[in-house]
Amino acid sequence: MARHTLEPMPPVAIAPFVPVSVSIDLGDRSYAIMIGADLFADAASYDGLPRGGHALIVSNDTVAPLYLDDLRQTLQSRHRHVHTVVLPDGETHKEWGTLQRIFDALLNAGCDRKTVLYALGGGVVGDMTGFAAACFMRGVSFVQVPTTLLAQVDSSVGGKTGINHPLGKNMVGAFHQPLRVLCDLNVLRSLPARELSAGLAEVIKYGPIADMAFFDWIEAHIDDLRGLEVAALSHAVQRSCEIKALVVSSDEREAGLRAILNFGHTFGHAIEAGLGYGAWLHGEAVGCGMVMAARLSQVLGLVDDAFVERVRRLVERAGLPVVAPVLDVGNNVERYLSLMRVDKKAEDGEIRFVLVDGPGKAVLRPVSDDLVADVIERSCRVA
Ligand code: NAD
Ligand code: GLY
Repeated sequence: MARHTLEPMPPVAIAPFVPVSVSIDLGDRSYAIMIGADLFADAASYDGLPRGGHALIVSNDTVAPLYLDDLRQTLQSRHRHVHTVVLPDGETHKEWGTLQRIFDALLNAGCDRKTVLYALGGGVVGDMTGFAAACFMRGVSFVQVPTTLLAQVDSSVGGKTGINHPLGKNMVGAFHQPLRVLCDLNVLRSLPARELSAGLAEVIKYGPIADMAFFDWIEAHIDDLRGLEVAALSHAVQRSCEIKALVVSSDEREAGLRAILNFGHTFGHAIEAGLGYGAWLHGEAVGCGMVMAARLSQVLGLVDDAFVERVRRLVERAGLPVVAPVLDVGNNVERYLSLMRVDKKAEDGEIRFVLVDGPGKAVLRPVSDDLVADVIERSCRVA
């Protein structure tokens, strides 16, 4: 059994809103995650980044009409050539053909090794842009400008990049760290409420695995977060990034500790794949998956019923589903189990789960199919 704990982290004082920066320590690849309002259109956010030469902004056809002009204008004062490529929106486009469009844009514009890519969008754009940056001319720099809450608290931080394969999500990719992450809280105002809730799942996740004081705080501020109150959003993004930065700084390539960031994801991936990608958003599946993982932790005697109910209630208050979907009427449990066996954490077909080993601590361990089956059955009918 691999037990992973983080050193206790002091709670962060909640000051009136001021822009903040969280650093991620990876030696000469260290970088800052900047968090603020009206950030990405502010020239100061780019201090210290490469100037001159080519920049390519990668976005999609939902985000580009909203924010691309502002980013292009700011970058035009820093780079001689600012190019853009607008991809079709959606997880289904996170694949080779769409990635090729980024390489086409880079080569058609005569971009070189000094080119900086800017990912302007949610996790899909960020993961693809990062992967393109990892591959183009064997590696160029990129900056993340995440525009969803999920991307600000999770996907833009930590250097996991990639695309999907028809046989598995995120199965082709590379670790490639950005030069900087610019989390502009104002862009969250145009985000659909369902996407905001999906991002909240990844915020909530950090509590049970690393910081119950943060979980208490989210419970107290969940309505402020759903109401897009800027000071609350700032604190949630900052604390999430601090925890993720600590984890990634000590286990960049997921040899152990980093796996705890996948709390709720093993059940969640089964839900996403079983329903067909897009039916539930990733964060919705993760939210429900966290309730299931908390329940599995309780079955193993690691937490009590009251803890499971706290997780369930907070996920529900975040606007996320808490009753697991039936994936196959005649063969539901086996369908879940077979989907979970292709999880990246599985080893030799054995499913390993991130569990809560006492509130605020995570453990990664295999669990027998009969216990998992019991949790699946209960989760598909328990409200
Ligand atoms: P997404 O990128 O599909 O964005 C969700 C939707 O919101 C899209 O339609 C997008 O166009 C739209 N959108 C984005 N910003 C907007 C804005 N400000 N206003 C209005 N609409 C906006 O989804 P996501 O939830 O951001 O990211 C999910 C992806 O992230 C998945 O592919 C997942 O695999 C990946 N991911 C990666 C990591 C990692 O560590 N690299 C971690 C978690 C998730
Ligand atoms: N989202 C999980 C990770 O970055 O490791």
